[in-house]
Amino acid sequence: MLAYNFFRPLVNIEYVKVCDQKDKNCHVTNLPYQNSTLSTEERIADLLNRMTLAEKIGQMALVEKNSLGNLDDLAKYGLGAVLSGGGAKPEVNTPAGWQEMVNNFQSYSQKTRLSIPLLYGADANHGHGQVPGATIFPHFIGLGATNDPGLVHEVAKVTAAETAATGIYWIFSPNLDVVKDLRWGRTYETFGSDPQVVSKLGQAFIEGLQSYNKRGLTVAAGAKHYISNGSMVWGSSTNNDFFIDQGNSNISEAELRQIHLEPFRQAVNANVKSIMVGLNSWQGEKISASKYLISDILRGELGFTGLIFSDWYGVYEIERSKYNSLVRAINAGVDMIMLPYDYEDFVTYLQRAVANGDISQERINEATRRILTLKFELGLFDHPAIDSADLKIVGSKENRDLARRAVRKSLVLLKNNNAAVPISKNISKILVAGSAAHNLGKQAGGWTVEWQGIDGNWLPGTTILDGLKKSVSANVKVEYSLSGDFSAQNNLADVGIAVVGENPYAEGWGDNNNPSLSAEDLSAINNLKQKSKKIVVIIISGRPLNIKEYTKDWDAVIAAWLPGSEGQGVADVLFGDYPFTGTLPIDWDL
Ligand code: GLC
Repeated sequence: MLAYNFFRPLVNIEYVKVCDQKDKNCHVTNLPYQNSTLSTEERIADLLNRMTLAEKIGQMALVEKNSLGNLDDLAKYGLGAVLSGGGAKPEVNTPAGWQEMVNNFQSYSQKTRLSIPLLYGADANHGHGQVPGATIFPHFIGLGATNDPGLVHEVAKVTAAETAATGIYWIFSPNLDVVKDLRWGRTYETFGSDPQVVSKLGQAFIEGLQSYNKRGLTVAAGAKHYISNGSMVWGSSTNNDFFIDQGNSNISEAELRQIHLEPFRQAVNANVKSIMVGLNSWQGEKISASKYLISDILRGELGFTGLIFSDWYGVYEIERSKYNSLVRAINAGVDMIMLPYDYEDFVTYLQRAVANGDISQERINEATRRILTLKFELGLFDHPAIDSADLKIVGSKENRDLARRAVRKSLVLLKNNNAAVPISKNISKILVAGSAAHNLGKQAGGWTVEWQGIDGNWLPGTTILDGLKKSVSANVKVEYSLSGDFSAQNNLADVGIAVVGENPYAEGWGDNNNPSLSAEDLSAINNLKQKSKKIVVIIISGRPLNIKEYTKDWDAVIAAWLPGSEGQGVADVLFGDYPFTGTLPIDWDL
């Protein structure tokens, strides 16, 4: 373990040269790295030769946008990348507002001597979910239920197009975790518990995202979270607020290889441009400190040549000393550090580590080369500013129709007694109840506008109730009560539909030792049952719920997962316009 050497000479921090308006000779032009007719290799070789150590180290910093006190720091430290963490939206949270925010950040990077463009990343993990008005697709657990790589490829293409339209070309997706414990709050972000399905759909998603190519700009996937995220042990979380997320996995190396390595092997085969290292640990060691897992396996065995970056504050959790943690992560093979906050310390520590010989110049050059390669391949050097031409595609009808198709294919019929479904469109009365029947926030789940999601109907979309009403013929009465209170009803309805489920959550805040239905939802179902000839229960959840003791009284049970903005897709199948084709992406004990 490195002993922090207090007695070695402290280096005076070196800053990046920032050009001011008066200095006409500061920005040199027509240099080889600025010549788009040269190969990427030639341009990088020229640029690397011109860069100072400070400029290289600055490129290795990935900073959360709300941590930039003074935007001039972007230039002063030559920061390489900025991200919008969950909920980190612009003042005006519209597609145009995102474009303006990213363009503004980019303008500061152009003030530096070499004008190396900024890389901006975000979690578009079920469409560009942080932007009201974007198409919100089913979360990955629902896409896992479709088990349809062609569909997943299309979803990824549209996700890339809507995200790129807002000026973001680096997407922290797909999630390639293989979930083993459904109590984990991130279950819904995964394609499920079958490594083969995760591998197949992950590859399709990467190819879909990275097929984007418009006006010289492309999109990079950020496959995550390398590796063994999903096998952690309940109660092992290193985060005091969580139970299993960010925890430790004790599986053997053979199990790690058998369960978790294949999705990343397929990702590398799909030419994924970047891979994010997880916040979890394996056999007691933080993944971001593991030279064996990162350099020997991911680089050496799988042959990954793209960018490896860390997740959130994970690197600094390697050990108490931030200096030692950074040295260990970068020497293990992490090229870009998601800080996400204190970039001045980062730059100081790294300049000191190179001066001390704890990190070699070669390692800094290697990491910088990969970062520059990504930026050249994305087209950022030749197109740093964004044009607003594509904003109209965000949330377009065509894209929403695709999301509606994905919802249809994600539905899993768990039980169907007395031919309760499909429901005829010509019956006389339908009663609807439950907390998720008319709540876009619940049907979208976490990572929607806010990190933890939102409650209510504060974004464009179709609730499941709206979809039901649109589907039936005009003479059918559809009545809704959140609590299922239909005491005023005299005769029994032909069918009662309860749409119930989990409140939105994200990451460890969703760790739950007994995921089930709320007392309110159970009461709504019972009330509904009193007034209906048949009961159909639709579950809106990020994972299987412990409802076995209740389902015996229900005629039909449907898993709808977290369908997103296009709730119409549920009615399409419920009334028989389309068949149930979804299959369980993770075991559900009913
Ligand atoms: C989070 C998540 C990761 C996400 C990142 C940026 O902590 O672990 O999946 O991409 O931060 O939002």
